Amino acid sequence: MLKLPGLIDPHVHMREPGAAHKEDWNTGTSAALAGGVTLVLAMPNTRPPIFDPTTLDLALAVAKQKACCDYAQFLGAGADNTAWNAHPEIPARAAGLKMYLDQTFGELRLDSMTIWQKHFKTWPKHLPIVTHSESRSMAAVILMAAIYDRPVHIAHISLKEEVLVIKAAKERGIKVTCEVCPHHLFLSKDDIPAISQGHPGRGEVRPRLATKEDVDALWANLDVIDCFATDHAPHTLAEKDGDNPPPGFPGLETALPLLLTAVSEGRLTINDVLSRMVTNPRRIFNLPEQPETWVEVDEDAAYEIRAADMHSRCGWTPFEGWQVKGRVRNVVLRGQKAYRDGKILVEVGYGKNVRE
Ligand code: DOR
Ligand code: ZN
Repeated sequence: MLKLPGLIDPHVHMREPGAAHKEDWNTGTSAALAGGVTLVLAMPNTRPPIFDPTTLDLALAVAKQKACCDYAQFLGAGADNTAWNAHPEIPARAAGLKMYLDQTFGELRLDSMTIWQKHFKTWPKHLPIVTHSESRSMAAVILMAAIYDRPVHIAHISLKEEVLVIKAAKERGIKVTCEVCPHHLFLSKDDIPAISQGHPGRGEVRPRLATKEDVDALWANLDVIDCFATDHAPHTLAEKDGDNPPPGFPGLETALPLLLTAVSEGRLTINDVLSRMVTNPRRIFNLPEQPETWVEVDEDAAYEIRAADMHSRCGWTPFEGWQVKGRVRNVVLRGQKAYRDGKILVEVGYGKNVRE
């Protein structure tokens, strides 16, 4: 049995408040534990979106009641909530500020660079800013980080041009970090027909699955990539297969098995995984260590990924039928047995807000 520290996923969508039929804080954090993740950072594109003290309280109240693993909640950047310096106690209660600068699921997109600038000016420098910014908006956001001389973390990069611009920006000393999702490392647009099974909505995700050349460039530049984050974005199969399918893939329960399989194939080392799922996210997002917390993995267990075995409420995975090697057997969280062989052992509400 391989013993690992509890993993950190800095990018998940818990869907509560507002869309608990896709996922709620209980099912989402159960999926986290089943995937060896003991700390999640939740995105703010819920209904209502989380963007002020009232909505933050709303999300944190549900999380407190229902979370099985530890967590923190992002605030979303809007057109009006730009005066963070007037209320410094609010940013400190959040995982960080999430800025949606390109179109995706939810209503939080910001088009005006004038608004971006206000957030960059007023959000405290020692607290994280994370952006959903693809291609040229990513380059624009890196310029903002340079202008205001503050860190920015780029969510889910997927393109060769993105990883190369980040590499060049880091070489210049700009304070930029980034994450990649397993689905952008293990899938390309060539896989869409197999994922779709005749339902094109199942292949929809933002950023979109990219070309083989993009995927190869991410693998070739792993040293530029600071974190692996799932962007766990559950939508039900009925929604994915209906009209106007929402973009998003679940990912919490498949990330570690996929990465351990890559380790067993010699494409990664276990230290590559641990730096990107423990030490780097802890540093970038300023997260506390979780005492007496670990994950036991049977690294030789070979099996097939099946949505039917999962805890997420969404009921499907783009990796259905994949052969993987490496199974999470036990999770201990702050001294308590939290998960064992498919069963959640902590009571609902055991999870702690790490910003409290
Ligand atoms: O595919 C995506 N789904 N990308 C995002 O940025 C948002 C997410 C969601 O919330 O469903
Ligand atoms: Zn996301």
